[in-house]
Amino acid sequence: MSHFIAIATTDELHANEMKAFEHEGRRLLLVNANGEFYVVDEMCTHEDYSLALGCIKGNRIKCSLHGSYFDLATGAPDDEPADEPICSYKVKVEDGQVWVDPTTKR
Ligand code: FES
Repeated sequence: MSHFIAIATTDELHANEMKAFEHEGRRLLLVNANGEFYVVDEMCTHEDYSLALGCIKGNRIKCSLHGSYFDLATGAPDDEPADEPICSYKVKVEDGQVWVDPTTKR
């Protein structure tokens, strides 16, 4: 069973912008990585710092506190010091909206 919820219109975020939101007490981050939408956990796994304060580089997001990169598609850390992945969730674009299923990993 899918649990997709609409979280933004497709024109709400410009390329390489992001928007933090909460769903059922979880902090999530919608990212427009050059036209490709991703939803990932908002908090860095290294020291619980908001990735919304970081920046998007290609299909990766950089934590601005210590510089770890995470792959937006897989959530895998690409650079130390973070060594635990963040979650990247299933996303679809339909009817002019971006939808996420926060119960399902990509
Ligand atoms: S808090 Fe993100 S890399 Fe340290």
